[in-house]
Amino acid sequence: MAEKFKMKILCIGAGYVGGPTMAMIAHKCPQYKIVVVDINKEKIDAWNSDELPIYEPGLYDVVKSARGRNLFFSTDVDKWIKECSVIFVSVNTPTKTYGVGAGMAADLMYWEKTARRILECAESDKIIVEKSTLPVKTAQAMERILNSGENSRVKFEVLSNPEFLAEGTAMEDIKNPDRVLIGSMQTDSGIKARDVLCEIYSNWVDKEKILTSNIWSSELSKLVANAFLAQRISSVNSISALCEKTDANIDEITNAIGTDTRIGNKFLKASVGFGGSCFKKDILNLVYICRTYGLTEEADYWENVTKINRHQKQRFVLKMLSSMFNTLADKRICLFGFAFKADTGDTRETPALFVAKKLVEENAKVIITDPKAISNAKSDLSDYSLKIEYIVDPYEAADKSHAIAIMTEWSLYKELDYEKIFSSMEKPAFIFDGRNIVDHKKLYNIGFNVYPTGKSPLTHF
Ligand code: NAD
Ligand code: UGA
Repeated sequence: MAEKFKMKILCIGAGYVGGPTMAMIAHKCPQYKIVVVDINKEKIDAWNSDELPIYEPGLYDVVKSARGRNLFFSTDVDKWIKECSVIFVSVNTPTKTYGVGAGMAADLMYWEKTARRILECAESDKIIVEKSTLPVKTAQAMERILNSGENSRVKFEVLSNPEFLAEGTAMEDIKNPDRVLIGSMQTDSGIKARDVLCEIYSNWVDKEKILTSNIWSSELSKLVANAFLAQRISSVNSISALCEKTDANIDEITNAIGTDTRIGNKFLKASVGFGGSCFKKDILNLVYICRTYGLTEEADYWENVTKINRHQKQRFVLKMLSSMFNTLADKRICLFGFAFKADTGDTRETPALFVAKKLVEENAKVIITDPKAISNAKSDLSDYSLKIEYIVDPYEAADKSHAIAIMTEWSLYKELDYEKIFSSMEKPAFIFDGRNIVDHKKLYNIGFNVYPTGKSPLTHF
């Protein structure tokens, strides 16, 4: 039977990026066949089931609309490399944990294995799209590997197309992106490949939102975007510490400065610190690249963004310790939320992990509740299993506790019956709001000692 599809597109890596982005392309473009492959069979089985491997609002419906029609999930990496003409690479690029650059540089092991696999299996020309976040100049290495084969009849064109989605809003971000960035070599074949990718996106993204650039600018823009976003949070969090010393109020300050259109009002929420798989790793990668080029001052400048973030988490724990009479031993402390942000079950680099570990070190009894992240929390804290309880229901979790610490801004925590919670807790009852999401005055009036972030505490002492 003749193939009915206009183009066959492969994505290598079925994670938080590969799964949702490819599902959206398949959903919006029934004329293309989209295959997502991964070496992790369990993950692929989950993508083929009703229990998807990740939680993302709206994802299930989009997957369901296209799966089996023009969207397929498979472990047969080699077969689909052969068959597809456009190959997105969205494998993980974590921080290196060994050797030179350990703790700073991006680990390109998975990415390079993929490049070599493509080279080994390809029998026809391919467009390779870097979707993973990569150090600037990676495309050059990719081209060198791909063009090192004996079969020089196969031509590879490498493009950079970084992903800007945020977890929890991934489907909306992919459907209505602020921009799509496509970097290419400025050669005839590079521009031709770029146009193919532009055409794919133009099925649902306005043409003026599809930005093109040279390939190095595109690679570097991704690291810079994350560095700027994280820098904003560290800036606000550093001021939150000053607010706590001076009776100023961080929300009033961000409201005042955010109305300046040059500053803008987004991404100015003080918190217990930023988490997620990418901010820290991408900044450290940027720092490492700067150092590699001998740009010491620039590297130090960006590294401070991560230092402030660690300090903010540390400060949160110290605030709990000092306000609860300098001992947490044997006290029950309930963490409201464990995910690194609301609307996701992802716990990578979540500030709650840091806080939970520090509380255990203080011999506190930690109870964790979260609507989506309990199973990830259990695996993150498997070494501490005897010291931590996991309870999905927040009322049960808070029962008989000495303190609640709000770690994740799940909207359900705004709507709880805090009178009921207060009456079940040990007294004096404390609440530490690492996200500033609850009504502090109301909680104070119920009887809580309330410790917001970047605002004066409201206490009954
Ligand atoms: P992830 O860990 O969720 O998924 C990566 C997948 O790649 C894994 O399932 C892994 O099994 C698979 N993989 C690794 N090596 C492979 C190989 N050789 N062949 C086939 N599959 C292989 O990672 P992610 O969160 O989707 O991130 C992927 C990339 O996208 C990273 O570079 C990340 O920085 C970037 N990114 C992530 C986000 C996000 O919100 N998570 C947003 C933008 C960009
Ligand atoms: C972030 C970027 O927003 C995406 O554009 C990027 O594609 C992605 O990283 C990536 O490269 O992986 P994500 O980490 O999913 O997305 O989520 P964010 O909404 O950026 O939140 C990151 C962390 O910052 C969370 O812990 C969040 O709670 C915290 N945050 C965010 C604040 O503390 N204050 C804010 O004002 C905003």
